[in-house]
Amino acid sequence: MPPLTHPSRRRALQAIAGLAASAALPNAARAGPDEAIASIRSLGEIAAGRGLLFGTAIDAGTLANPLQAALYTHHARIFTSDNALKFGSLRPQEGPADFKAADALVAFAARHNIALRGHCLIWNDWVPPWVAKLSPARCAYWLDRHIDEVVSRYAGKLHSWDVVNEPFWPASGNPGGLRNGPWYAAMGRGYVLRALKRARAADPLGRIAINEAGPEWEQVWGASSKPYRDGLLGLVDEVQGAGVRLDMVGLQCHWFPEFTFDAGSFRAYLAELAKRDVAILITELDVNDAQMPGDEAARDAEVAHRYQSLIDAALAEPKVEAILTWQLSDNASWLMAAPTLWGPNNRRPRPLPFEGAFHPKPAYYAIAEALALKR
Ligand code: XIL
Repeated sequence: MPPLTHPSRRRALQAIAGLAASAALPNAARAGPDEAIASIRSLGEIAAGRGLLFGTAIDAGTLANPLQAALYTHHARIFTSDNALKFGSLRPQEGPADFKAADALVAFAARHNIALRGHCLIWNDWVPPWVAKLSPARCAYWLDRHIDEVVSRYAGKLHSWDVVNEPFWPASGNPGGLRNGPWYAAMGRGYVLRALKRARAADPLGRIAINEAGPEWEQVWGASSKPYRDGLLGLVDEVQGAGVRLDMVGLQCHWFPEFTFDAGSFRAYLAELAKRDVAILITELDVNDAQMPGDEAARDAEVAHRYQSLIDAALAEPKVEAILTWQLSDNASWLMAAPTLWGPNNRRPRPLPFEGAFHPKPAYYAIAEALALKR
């Protein structure tokens, strides 16, 4: 039986989450929106109770929407920047960076006393077109300059940086499974180490990460995840062998419909990473249900079940110190903007723990329970 469908189980989870089993959520109009949001037990608070960080990706749209902002500040103890700090957002054109949206996000997180991860300095995707036109030497110049300027600007203000995002994409056909893109084309495999060294030098006290998607699963995009798993472990070894301190590895955990998950082999993989003495973060968790069978309630229950199984497995590894979802409420999910990822008859995905600001879904209770369990 999938979890969260049985009434007694639901009551137990509501109790964990601090909600009265029989009472509906306070009506926003009656209680006021802030009270309605605050009446739901904070996931960040639950996680903090066992020494973990829980949080979410956040973007400029949330800062401009008071209800969404209240939901995010209530539940998160850590944010990751969604788009605001990406290379393409800061430098749509060659020349000085535009830090307006990034500064606003950094100030927002500081004002609410919520840690903020910087995501991401160098990624072979989402790169503005001008970078692809550069000579290899100019490309290397911009990698260095971007990291110097951005890392030093926010030195001391961020929890950590995803210095290199998604280095692997075996379908590119490159040696070692590395992803194609302008940085790889200009510098080859060395771009990874160069970026990490540069970030370390620009803020010696800052914490730096490689963030990857793929090793979490058994099957990813119709093939074994082995190239991702082996590739990432090898890259960590290479970085450490070069004498560069790598503080953490992020695993994104965007659960696409065709990806398969095995808790045992995921845990074994986390243990392999942990042997390398890096902190591990689940950085971008969401579950795309759009292709799942069944009605909305059945899909919501399956989404909840997957959240729970993944978080349970992750938290069995003591080196896992934070769980972040990629946004908190369905309306803000990146999947909404990608019709190719919707279900039959343009069915929108319901990948996150909240529906709007007030309505926790089964996934909320599943996350709350997984975060609350003692290791
Ligand atoms: C996504 C953003 O959420 C979208 O708004 C944007 O159009 C594309 O990028 N892996 C990552 C994130 O590392 O940076 C991506 O974010 C989602 C997948």
